[in-house]
Amino acid sequence: MRQLIQDTIERTPGNAYLQGKKAKFIQIDEDWGFKFYSYKEDANQTYEMQKYLASHGLAPQVGEQMCIRLPNGSYQYGYVTEVAAILSDIKARQLGFKDELEMCAQPNGRALYNQCDDEWEDSDDFIWLTDQIRKVKVEEFDTHVSNVGYIRGKIVVIDVHQYEFKEDI
Ligand SMILES: Nc1ncnc2c1ncn2[C@@H]1O[C@H](COP(=O)(O)OP(=O)(O)O)[C@@H](O)[C@H]1O
Ligand SMILES: [Mg+2]
Repeated sequence: MRQLIQDTIERTPGNAYLQGKKAKFIQIDEDWGFKFYSYKEDANQTYEMQKYLASHGLAPQVGEQMCIRLPNGSYQYGYVTEVAAILSDIKARQLGFKDELEMCAQPNGRALYNQCDDEWEDSDDFIWLTDQIRKVKVEEFDTHVSNVGYIRGKIVVIDVHQYEFKEDI
């Protein structure tokens, strides 16, 4: 897996990573991808949280943790993760766009995104997922339409960067 990831990184231009505010992501094969961060602490923290939520079926399964070198020479810290079909991309396709990125590039992109997010927050899946996360004593934040997805028909959270374990009272 390590060699496959390093090869994929070498082949992927730097501007082709899927990117949020903190994490970068590349798909390795149909089912698995590699999620990575500039800081080891971010990678370790999200790995532990994702692994815990995955054990309850609420996040993608995680694989090996790894440090890799980008073609620009910088070191990055990350882990292997199952790939989910991101909900914002699914909703964008339903509206006739290629993905969320293309939808958001429209003049009314912001409004279209907000509409998708409102729909998501009104859905049974949103209520179910956020309830389950709280039940396993995790505080969820930022559970937006672009931070959740489907794996084998089941809703999961893919971005747990801001999540915290609840203190026992
Ligand atoms: N498990 C995954 N399956 C599919 N795509 C993913 C997965 N994790 C991340 N991504 C992609 O990478 C992007 C950035 O990851 P994310 O965890 O949301 O980072 P950030 O904390 O920077 O928002 C996501 O918006 C999504 O496109
Ligand atoms: Mg995100």
